[in-house]
Amino acid sequence: MPCTVLVCGFFGDTGKGKMISYLAIKDKTAVTARAGVGPNAGHTVVYEGKTYKLRMLPSAFTAPDCRLLIGPGVLVNPEIFLNEVNDLGTKGRVGVDPQCAIIEPKHMEADKKGYLAQKIKSTGSGSGPCNSDRVMRIAKLAREFPNLKEFLVDVPLEVNTAINEGKNVLIEGTQGTYLSLFHGTYPYCTSKDVCAAAACSDVGVGPTSVDDVIVVFKAYNTRVGGGPLAGELSWEEAQKRGWAEIATNTGRKRRAAPFDFDLAKRAVMLNGATQVTVTKIDVLFPECKGLTAYDEISREAKAFVENIEKQLKVPVTMLGTGPGTMEVVDRRADLKKS
Ligand code: IMP
Ligand code: MG
Repeated sequence: MPCTVLVCGFFGDTGKGKMISYLAIKDKTAVTARAGVGPNAGHTVVYEGKTYKLRMLPSAFTAPDCRLLIGPGVLVNPEIFLNEVNDLGTKGRVGVDPQCAIIEPKHMEADKKGYLAQKIKSTGSGSGPCNSDRVMRIAKLAREFPNLKEFLVDVPLEVNTAINEGKNVLIEGTQGTYLSLFHGTYPYCTSKDVCAAAACSDVGVGPTSVDDVIVVFKAYNTRVGGGPLAGELSWEEAQKRGWAEIATNTGRKRRAAPFDFDLAKRAVMLNGATQVTVTKIDVLFPECKGLTAYDEISREAKAFVENIEKQLKVPVTMLGTGPGTMEVVDRRADLKKS
């Protein structure tokens, strides 16, 4: 699968970071390019007993030879970016496109008050105000910042070259389908489209170069911030079910609801999914914790997965069975045979 795009089919926080980390290792991915809005995202990767929270770098850093790129559509906060490069020790293999727009302190200030903070309940990361400046053509770009100079690379050229050489490439989406400015629950959404086509555009890859689109769902649904959430549970009920989560980036409580088939079906359509992944299977079915073989998972869990497959009409190729990168049931080889 030379070029695979991975996006979330709900409201973000479905485990894209974990799945990207897994795929990069498993498929020996040569290049991962991060798409999406910017540091409003928080991707969590648990690998070899350590927990990493990423807001700028691709989650594929766990694969030691993988190039880690940030596409021109993505907003960069230089401080967060440089800290992550430093903490992860990834300097030699990180690239930022010169055309990435830069989040400045004034954007963060504007995002922490007024309409965006109070009504939309934005992440306060400065992403919305920076994208607004970008639309007005007054945002500064990465090429203007000396402290980013050593990281600047033509990301679309590098990604497309790798694809043309037949290497495995991952495009890492952020946020989720229903946070899209175009397809989400407007005005309770983020500041641009974040579906698969937009993720490709963010990194400069055309639709004809994409081989697979993986849409990630969680076994239940969560969202942070304002906006509708069908079937929303009380925090107490979410706690009882083990669905009570705290947001990676903002530390806010995530609102929780059961798996939403209507949203999932539409997400498959909007993203052109060729595969679906369901994470946190172990939260609904604790007996599945840490399993990696489909044969070993319980009858109840299989029925849940097969119902998703039947309703969405897309193969569920991978299941998350725990927070660790390698806690995955990977059915891709078996499904190909049958
Ligand atoms: P903004 O993207 O910071 O403007 O926030 C707009 C809305 O999108 C708020 O409801 C945020 O909580 C939500 N949001 C933005 N990025 C993410 C994400 O990566 N995961 C989950 N929610 C997000
Ligand atoms: Mg997240």
